[in-house]
Amino acid sequence: MLSLLLPLLLLPIPGFPLPLPLPIPGQAPRTFAVDLDAGPEFRWLPVLKAFDPAFLTAALQRIFREQVPPWVHVTLGLVVTEMEGLLPQPFLGEIRGMSEVLGIPLSDGILLNLAYEYSAFCTSIVTQDSSGRIFHGRNLDYVFGDILRQVVIDVQFMRAGKIAYTGTTFVGYVGLWTGQSPYKFTVSGDERDKGWWWENAIAALLQRNSPVSWLIRNTLSEAKDFQAAVLMLAKTPIIADAYYIVGGVSPKEGVVITRNRGGPADIWPLDPLNGEWFRVETNYDHWKPPPHSDDRRTPAIKALNATGQEHISLNTLFQVLSVVPVMNNYTIYTTVMTAARPEEYTTRIRPIW
Ligand SMILES: *[C@@H]1O[C@H](CO)[C@@H](O)[C@H](O)[C@H]1NC(C)=O
Ligand SMILES: *[C@@H]1O[C@H](CO)[C@@H](O)[C@H](O)[C@H]1NC(C)=O
Repeated sequence: MLSLLLPLLLLPIPGFPLPLPLPIPGQAPRTFAVDLDAGPEFRWLPVLKAFDPAFLTAALQRIFREQVPPWVHVTLGLVVTEMEGLLPQPFLGEIRGMSEVLGIPLSDGILLNLAYEYSAFCTSIVTQDSSGRIFHGRNLDYVFGDILRQVVIDVQFMRAGKIAYTGTTFVGYVGLWTGQSPYKFTVSGDERDKGWWWENAIAALLQRNSPVSWLIRNTLSEAKDFQAAVLMLAKTPIIADAYYIVGGVSPKEGVVITRNRGGPADIWPLDPLNGEWFRVETNYDHWKPPPHSDDRRTPAIKALNATGQEHISLNTLFQVLSVVPVMNNYTIYTTVMTAARPEEYTTRIRPIW
């Protein structure tokens, strides 16, 4: 009997991605489809419904209290009518729709979306294997891990019934720090220097600069290939300095973009012909040594060196991103992805230690 059943159990379930060759440990987040053909106010409602409203409200309030300085709350509350005119769609509509359901003022919804922007410590890696395939991975490190682990979601953004792009985010947060445009490119963002963050960000927002994570989402939505994505991520004015890491589908398509608010500070591509088959970006400019108090770069490079170009894959990249302190107490999730095989996009929630 068992021998009859076994072959059936091994058949892939239709509609599910094929399993990776090795199991990747950790819990997968819940996956939702968000329909871009629905109005911005409505498209996130099925996601919100899947979570306990009391838990969501309590969680958002705690993040708000601890992350948004009171003076920002007051100031932004005063200029919110002006803000409304400045913020682009679909983001404003999406935040409006979710704020209504959660019973919070629109200005608080906007502030929450900005608050998440500003204290992420992360590691992103883009690599090219010996046969020219590109693999991209990231750890997202953030405070409030106890709450945020419970609201990490993978989202398939649907247009005309097809996946337009995929991303990983937190419930209520309309930007993306991690995403993939199928058969085109993958993007991750890491934070860069947050001195005077709120002052600078609000001033830049009033000049219509884009939040860092909204530009990632717009790029996933609009850019037609790797080159176009790099151009858009390098040049579009944003509200805070950042690093954008981009992977493509062809050899040499991998880059770390160091961003100032107004434009690129540095472009650092893969250089596989000269043995530079990976790029590691944490939260420090690559041309300077990382501080001793927070060196996640050297351990990541050591692990990549030990892996070797011929053995790099989504699985081994995940192992590199599991090395302490590349993975640490703040690591909420790890995503590995390769735009040439979009169905292998994999996120795992990291345990609390
Ligand atoms: C990694 O390997 C390269 C090339 O062999 C070497 O130059 C570099 O020092 C190594 N880095 C670390 C951190 O082991
Ligand atoms: C995580 O936090 C615990 C408790 O503070 C500490 O003992 C441990 O060393 C930390 N682990 C890492 C990898 O930083």
